[in-house]
Amino acid sequence: MAGLHGRDFLRITDISEAEMLELLTLAGQLKAGQEKIDCFGKILGLFFRKSSTRTRVSFSSAMWRLGGQVIDLNLNVMQVSRGEPIKDTARILSGYLDVLAIRTFEQTEVQEFADYADIPVINALTDLEHPCQILADLKTVQEAFAGQLAGLTMTYLGDGNNVAHSLILGCALVGMNVCVATPADYQPDAGIVAQAKELAGDRATITLTTDPKAAVEGANVLYTDVWASMGQEDLAESRIPIFQPYQINDELLAIAAKDAIVLHCLPAHRGEEITDSVIEGPQSRVWQEAENRMHAQQALLAKLLG
Ligand code: CP
Ligand code: NVA
Repeated sequence: MAGLHGRDFLRITDISEAEMLELLTLAGQLKAGQEKIDCFGKILGLFFRKSSTRTRVSFSSAMWRLGGQVIDLNLNVMQVSRGEPIKDTARILSGYLDVLAIRTFEQTEVQEFADYADIPVINALTDLEHPCQILADLKTVQEAFAGQLAGLTMTYLGDGNNVAHSLILGCALVGMNVCVATPADYQPDAGIVAQAKELAGDRATITLTTDPKAAVEGANVLYTDVWASMGQEDLAESRIPIFQPYQINDELLAIAAKDAIVLHCLPAHRGEEITDSVIEGPQSRVWQEAENRMHAQQALLAKLLG
């Protein structure tokens, strides 16, 4: 997979199905201690405009484990906070760093970084996508289903935004059926859904519904995310009654396949999108999923850095 060297990872569809499966295999080998990759002397920069526990720490830990180093860029003391253009910042950082992970609002900002930087740029979450999350999610699904992805059914419940977008596309890429249950006004972006249908072809189905029970029937994986994302905090209260029917609770989980697993990108709001009993229950794989962020991103960094 020399093919990933030097490339950007801005959207989950920036990699092919074969590259995805190779990344997941490498993540598994790294996790099992069967593979050791040396990125000594390489430096990862983290440029984050939003809070983060998992992404920030798992990327840092992954880079250290590869023998590289990390600079957590503090935007408050950088000149971008005083108006220095992204296109200038991107070119400057390219001279100091080997790879740059960015968490921000607009997808156009990571795209602008990528356009002007000559090092790999990674999307560490935007309002449009969260591709790194989906690497860990698919790894966790493989672990639960003896390596299988194609043919399984992923049901996402909740807000059709960033995590859902990357999940729909990522699942379509590997031939998983996707069912997305959202309130009518919170469906995923129509362009993303069309792209997923094209990717899935006749290998898998992409279904949108407003009926959570129908969506969960026979599902192998149930997935949810917060009802109000970062930047939408003022909408959180008003969204609770709208999203309540989409909560993953014991009653809904009972409709899924008997061996279904439950994923959540985290952070979770217990009692809103997921109950305490489900997240702490035997079908939850959320802690394993969170750990897999580090293994998957270690594989990604290793491949982007060559
Ligand atoms: N899932 C995820 O990206 O978590 P953080 O916001 O803590 O990075
Ligand atoms: N949709 C959430 C995901 C957090 C990892 C957000 O954007 O805040």
